[in-house]
Amino acid sequence: MSAITNAVLARLGNRYDQILELTPKVDHLLEQSEVARQIHSNYASTGFVKVDNVLPEEPLVELVSDLWPILSPIAQEVIMQQEPTPHGRLSDGARFRRVDPYCAPQPEKLTRLLAALGLTDFGFRLASKLTPLIRHIAGPVTFRRLYFYLYKEEDYLSVHDDRHVGARVDVQFPVTLGTIAGVRVLSDGLLRVHYDSPGSMNVLGPCVWHDVPPLLRGVSGIEPQRLNIGLRFT
Ligand SMILES: [Fe+2]
Repeated sequence: MSAITNAVLARLGNRYDQILELTPKVDHLLEQSEVARQIHSNYASTGFVKVDNVLPEEPLVELVSDLWPILSPIAQEVIMQQEPTPHGRLSDGARFRRVDPYCAPQPEKLTRLLAALGLTDFGFRLASKLTPLIRHIAGPVTFRRLYFYLYKEEDYLSVHDDRHVGARVDVQFPVTLGTIAGVRVLSDGLLRVHYDSPGSMNVLGPCVWHDVPPLLRGVSGIEPQRLNIGLRFT
């Protein structure tokens, strides 16, 4: 793991403050009744909506660049191997990594680390700013925890609906560096792509079919990275 010095912690702290200070659109969105109505109706029809420009792009990309080398070595690999079923289908599959105290082998240790990095506090502050908008979109939900999914080249998540997780609402800020990526969501019988754009907010409701296509190496040849910052509401 890269050394977490006081300088690194101070830089992270500045990034959190910048992001929270420069997140003014959230309040304005609800004041624009037509925009707010459209966002709500998109979510109501498919269980998913992408809202652009919720977080400021520049400090968010800088934060992701800072967090990747810290979170990557501690992230827990999630591998679900795909196998043919007796019904002539292929079972679900996935390969990515996650940082989430709820699923970690040593939850207390990870919780302490996320707190020391200032991420726990950042998650609460961000969630409290966003809660009026999330409730407008998805109803009376409450923030529960912050988590991270990390995807590198070839990582993917096959189509699934998270039914086993119950009535959760995931609020996600995916940032992809070095390539183009996104999430696909079932809408009118097709999986439609919603490209990652830094600062955009994906709101994914319960039991919605979705997948993350494999992360491909772009023409630049840079090692692709996708960090999905998630806020879990229930
Ligand atoms: Fe999912």
